[in-house]
Amino acid sequence: MKVFVTGGTGLVGSNVIKVAREKYGAEVVASVYKRRPASRLHCSLEQVDVTDAEEVRRTLLRHRPDAVIHCAATVDMALLQQDNAHGWRLMVDATRNIARACGECGARMVFVSSDWVFGGGTPPYSEDAVPCPVNYYGLLKVVGETIVSSIGIDYGIARIAAVYGRNWSFPDWVPEQRVTGFGTLPNWMLDQLQKGERIVEWTDYINVEANPTLASDCAEAMLTIVERKKVGTFHCCGRRSVNRVELGKLVAATFGLDPAKVRAARAEEMDPGSVEESVPRKTSLNVALTESTLERRNLPPEEGLAVWKRQLQSGRLMEQRSSEETE
Ligand SMILES: NC(=O)c1ccc[n+]([C@@H]2O[C@H](COP(=O)([O-])OP(=O)(O)OC[C@H]3O[C@@H](n4cnc5c(N)ncnc54)[C@H](OP(=O)(O)O)[C@@H]3O)[C@@H](O)[C@H]2O)c1
Repeated sequence: MKVFVTGGTGLVGSNVIKVAREKYGAEVVASVYKRRPASRLHCSLEQVDVTDAEEVRRTLLRHRPDAVIHCAATVDMALLQQDNAHGWRLMVDATRNIARACGECGARMVFVSSDWVFGGGTPPYSEDAVPCPVNYYGLLKVVGETIVSSIGIDYGIARIAAVYGRNWSFPDWVPEQRVTGFGTLPNWMLDQLQKGERIVEWTDYINVEANPTLASDCAEAMLTIVERKKVGTFHCCGRRSVNRVELGKLVAATFGLDPAKVRAARAEEMDPGSVEESVPRKTSLNVALTESTLERRNLPPEEGLAVWKRQLQSGRLMEQRSSEETE
């Protein structure tokens, strides 16, 4: 199996590369853009700007992969808010470029989408719930999903949420935490707790609950879509949603740090700063249909955090599954 991964320097993309190579024995070609990986990924690298239709087409026709897993995008909400046109080019035009090129070379496409296609008013959301985004990022993902599912290729839409884990392109990376973010929150929480800092999180404001997703687990789900030739929309996120305080306490418990350092506060006590875009409140995703279709069990938060700990300690991907594959 030959897999082309876009966004090879990213948190998700670097995990897709690693899992594809080490667990699926796939031949992997990955696109890089502005950054070069600081660590060897043992795959071929191609410099590609995914917004450049001709460059995308040329590259994919040259490699003729069996599947493209499209991870390149931005999760910088402020940037999208400031520059709508850039967001459209990067999230919509680029997705169309890749989908068209997949059509030309007969590759399947997995499009990485988000829980933010939902507005957060009526969770939990199942795979076939109607999208209702409340901000520009969510809208761009809905448009991307629509392109991929209607252009006439074999596709999988892989919705993920609140991703954390090890970026194999930059093993020493500690993300800066944006105030409303849920993505990479465990990375930041671990760093804070290891420094002995307190963590104060709200339970009554925006982005209060999501399904934390270990990057290598969602990568495994995406590769299962490819390997088993599944078509449709999948929730490749953590098995269960938690709120921000629960998540902090789970991080502390997993790493043997002090859970008492994590406490809840009302958002008004915390001065979270002005938030210019609309942010969903609770985007819990139901994963039942995904688990039964892919015949694999998504990792719940406790297990995902435990696997991440082993990855950090060993510097290796590590086995994720217990003997029981599905419940
Ligand atoms: N992180 C989360 O919590 C989360 C949650 C839900 C969904 N998602 C989705 O998951 C996917 C991956 O996110 P991530 O967290 O891995 O993001 P990330 O770590 O910020 O990685 C983004 C990647 O996109 C690349 N890229 C940006 N502009 C490009 C361009 N014009 N051409 C080619 N490559 C370009 C970046 O390359 P450079 O490094 O060179 O800039 C980087 O490799 C995205 O679709 C995101 O929307 C993420």
